[in-house]
Amino acid sequence: METLFFSENEIEKAAKIIKQGGLVAMPTETVYGLAADAMNAQAVKSIFKAKGRPSDNPLIVHIYDISQVDSLVKSFPQKAKKLCEKFWPGPLTIILPKSDLVPNEISPGLDTVAIRMPAHPSALALIKAAGTPVAAPSANLSGSPSPVTAQHVKNDLDGKIDGILDGGRCSVGLESTVITLVKEPPVLLRPGAVTVEEIEAVIGKIHLSHAVFEKLELGKKAASPGMKYKHYSPKARVIIMKGSDEQYVSFVNSHADSNVCALCFDEDIPLLHTKAFSMGKKLDYEAQARSLFDLLRKIDDENFSTVYARCPTAAGVGMAVYNRLIRAAGFEVKTFA
Ligand code: TXA
Ligand code: MG
Repeated sequence: METLFFSENEIEKAAKIIKQGGLVAMPTETVYGLAADAMNAQAVKSIFKAKGRPSDNPLIVHIYDISQVDSLVKSFPQKAKKLCEKFWPGPLTIILPKSDLVPNEISPGLDTVAIRMPAHPSALALIKAAGTPVAAPSANLSGSPSPVTAQHVKNDLDGKIDGILDGGRCSVGLESTVITLVKEPPVLLRPGAVTVEEIEAVIGKIHLSHAVFEKLELGKKAASPGMKYKHYSPKARVIIMKGSDEQYVSFVNSHADSNVCALCFDEDIPLLHTKAFSMGKKLDYEAQARSLFDLLRKIDDENFSTVYARCPTAAGVGMAVYNRLIRAAGFEVKTFA
């Protein structure tokens, strides 16, 4: 199949493909999504095929107007409404009881549905023009880092999807915050740019799923199936280093080699004697979020075999950076005494 490229002036053409049951990668403020008509079971199935996605990993339904929620859910509790009013359009996904109108293929084996209103103007325009809610997982091959440019999508999915709508580089760089409001108290399943503190300021105390920081035990049922897979992972072996600035620099310098690189902070760069990729300043969590997936892809392009990564601080948006990086590392952490 030939994959067509669309500019932001060609949203109608991209929308036509979605109406006809095809697949179009669309820009969002978080990462690129692989969009299809969420109400068309065949189209939804073809998303799983194009990505090589495990069939039990449910999809997020994207909308352009809050009035679309009612037909997708069995109930829309007050707390969920408050969150949507505060954070939509934006990087927050809510999980609610699924209505019977939503095909089972969206959330295989579950009676819930994840919904998000993205903030990227071209995503909103595309969903509106398609005239239907749009299912969209990240537009990467399953297992590789999520795409934050149209070029990343092309590298993964050229020839496998109908089109790519180029809307520039994603401003957030990591996937949305996912929270389930199906039961009380609400549970955060995946951290993102909307932080725990921001959510609690609107609806009070929430719980954090242990999958946010820990590897899921084999055989245990995942609240968010996506969290159980090794994810976001480059081909290189990534090791997270927990320790002081000095311990990190001295370890990396004593293990310098042409196959090895550092994934570090701006402050480390002048001190390191090895190839180094900076995620941003040590305390600039937004910058780290924006650069992480791009850097993981660059590291693979340059064929490094081992990556010594600084441990991001798991506070605010940093929690999302930590959550993605620890998965990229397959939970391999070296702690200095
Ligand atoms: O920012 C984002 O959320 C991006 C853009 C494209 O909107 N999308 C995205 O989709 O990251 P995806 O499919 O890569 O991740 C969706 C996550 C997965 O971890 C999945 O398991 C979880 O949300 N999820 C979806 N529906 C769910 C449900 N009904 N119950 C529990 N988890 C759900
Ligand atoms: Mg994904």
